[in-house]
Amino acid sequence: MSQARIENLLAQMTLEEKAGQLNQEPNSIEVDRTLVRRGLVGSVICANSAYAGNDRQARVMASALNELQRVAVEETRLGIPLLLARDVIHGHRAVAPIPLGQAATWNPRLVEEVAATAASEARADGIHWAFTPMIDIARDPRWGRMAEGFGEDPYLASSLAAAAINGYQRAGLDDPKGIVACAKHYVGYGAAEGGRDYNSGEITPHTLENIFLPPFHAAVKAGVATIMAAFLDIDGEPVTGSRRLLKGILRERWGWDGVIICDWGAVAELVKHGVAENLKEAAAMALRAGIDIDMAGQAYRAYLPELVREGALPVSLVDEAVRRVLRLKDACGLFDQPYTDESLATADLPASHRTQVRDMAQQSAVLLKNNGVLPLAKARKNYAVVGPLADPAVKEVWFGTWTIDGLATDMVAFLDAFRQALPDSGVWHALLPDDAVGMVRMCDAVVAVIGESNGRSGEDNAVTDIGLPPGQLDLLRALKRARKPIVAVVAAGRALAVTEVCELADAVLLAFHGGLESGPALADLLVGDAAPSGRLPVSLPVCTGQVPIPYNHKRTGRPVPLRGSRYLDADDQPLFPFGFGLGYTEFRFSATTAEIQGGTVVVRATVDNVGNQDGVAVAQLYIRDEVSSQTRPVRELRGFERFPLPAGESRVVEFSRTPEDLGFRDRDGSLVVEPGEFTFWISPDAASGVGVKLRVD
Ligand code: NOJ
Repeated sequence: MSQARIENLLAQMTLEEKAGQLNQEPNSIEVDRTLVRRGLVGSVICANSAYAGNDRQARVMASALNELQRVAVEETRLGIPLLLARDVIHGHRAVAPIPLGQAATWNPRLVEEVAATAASEARADGIHWAFTPMIDIARDPRWGRMAEGFGEDPYLASSLAAAAINGYQRAGLDDPKGIVACAKHYVGYGAAEGGRDYNSGEITPHTLENIFLPPFHAAVKAGVATIMAAFLDIDGEPVTGSRRLLKGILRERWGWDGVIICDWGAVAELVKHGVAENLKEAAAMALRAGIDIDMAGQAYRAYLPELVREGALPVSLVDEAVRRVLRLKDACGLFDQPYTDESLATADLPASHRTQVRDMAQQSAVLLKNNGVLPLAKARKNYAVVGPLADPAVKEVWFGTWTIDGLATDMVAFLDAFRQALPDSGVWHALLPDDAVGMVRMCDAVVAVIGESNGRSGEDNAVTDIGLPPGQLDLLRALKRARKPIVAVVAAGRALAVTEVCELADAVLLAFHGGLESGPALADLLVGDAAPSGRLPVSLPVCTGQVPIPYNHKRTGRPVPLRGSRYLDADDQPLFPFGFGLGYTEFRFSATTAEIQGGTVVVRATVDNVGNQDGVAVAQLYIRDEVSSQTRPVRELRGFERFPLPAGESRVVEFSRTPEDLGFRDRDGSLVVEPGEFTFWISPDAASGVGVKLRVD
């Protein structure tokens, strides 16, 4: 559809129909058809409740969505099709690991492929728009939504944000395999105070520019079609009502012209925040700030026409937002083909989709400790499998938070997969802790499958204690008394504090929630059919009281080890640093070298596989700006490369960076590039490596 046709359509619309385009109704099944018929619905979020992430829900069906679309297309005055949206957060039917686990792969290519697969599956089911990826930087693991993002680092999160968006959108928004992505929650949602969802955030302009905004800038550069505003208020303004953050940064500074949607009911929440007296004032405030679509709030539908008629809002503001929505519908090809081809939905999960999420589940697991017990010997052994999350009856826990369209029937439980992986050994399972303790004495080793259920992370699931859930350490302590090797497999939707687990167990594999193929993927890793290659996308704290403890903290006036800002009762370093992860082989990183070549800094190090197994290395480039006009972090990630390295081989890793790449953002968002001395490290994590200093002018 040409711009002229969009203008022509706009010219025919009543104010009520315009407000309708900006109204997103919730819950596809119950959507009031009479509202649709009157042209008062522009899009629908297909979810059964505001807490869809916490409930397993009815699957979406192309046939039901086509039926709804038919009402919009055939029974409304102007026949404008609906945009149908859903929270497709980490895979659709092929449920991928939670995004925090995806980030642990440090593998943008795989993140892109998994997103492309999710897009094709969801589109085949009739979904045009997915509210993903969540690219909030999360530094406080009490926040349950750490599970849904790419961790604590802006560089890693930006790389993966771009990869995911490319994956969702690359087939084209009008292609049966493409989907509209939505970068969320803009911006700073990870700063919600105390880790409590929906809470206010204290973010300085410097931190906003250098930590929270970069992934969104990357999303915009990757061509994301939509952005969702965050629930929280920052600096005295709810984001939903902040012209400064929405129009000011997204439109005026970055020149981005996509659709901005608020979060569920957030326009109405401007009243609860106490910045609008009533729903009508809230509607005016949100539209002025830049919110194009009111999700599940109905403030726009109820009040925009009246506000325009009274002269309180210029119709041009409404028209601008409607134009964006119509352009998005057009980009999705909905004016030409509003219906989903129902024959495209496959009854069976394609094997290639399964393989892909299995690869990702393998790559996302991070081996934290191994005193040699892993990989487990395959032949003629007896293994006990214990722990609450080994119970096949709760296998869906491994789907992770926000899995709406995964099917338990597609899933193989870890216990079954482990048995299949060990045909020549005995695998014994005890459900109850007292049985477990007795059984372990008869076995060669025990695999304790512990950690968090999926319901302990995700939306509105904050905790005050980031240690293991009740009873699990008691179980490990009791197992320890049997004096048999303990392998702990830890499910997690956040950076759990696993300090005592690491003391008690001989090997610890942090598995996050690995999705549909968690069971087979973990079994392969434990028996050595695959090797762990994940690296931490967040620092793992020693205990809750240490948080937040991101690796890229400032140097302070009293830097470590003389730092005065210490704790008396706990270390001032995390248990495991950002970027850390073991494998079944060992890598040695040489000292880093750096030189200027033609105005570019070239940083190199040699990585040797000094073990006797092939492995996957992740070389991480960190910098420190030694003297700058604003305080800078002790280290910041500015590059990484994941690559296979066979046993005995070595490889020179090289990163080239311009002076601009080493810069930072001023309080107003301008790039600051200052000449001076930098330290560069190419290292296996954020706490090791031999760095080198170089002056960059
Ligand atoms: C609230 C969540 O914050 C957001 O991430 C989600 O997309 C919407 N609900 C819709 O379910």
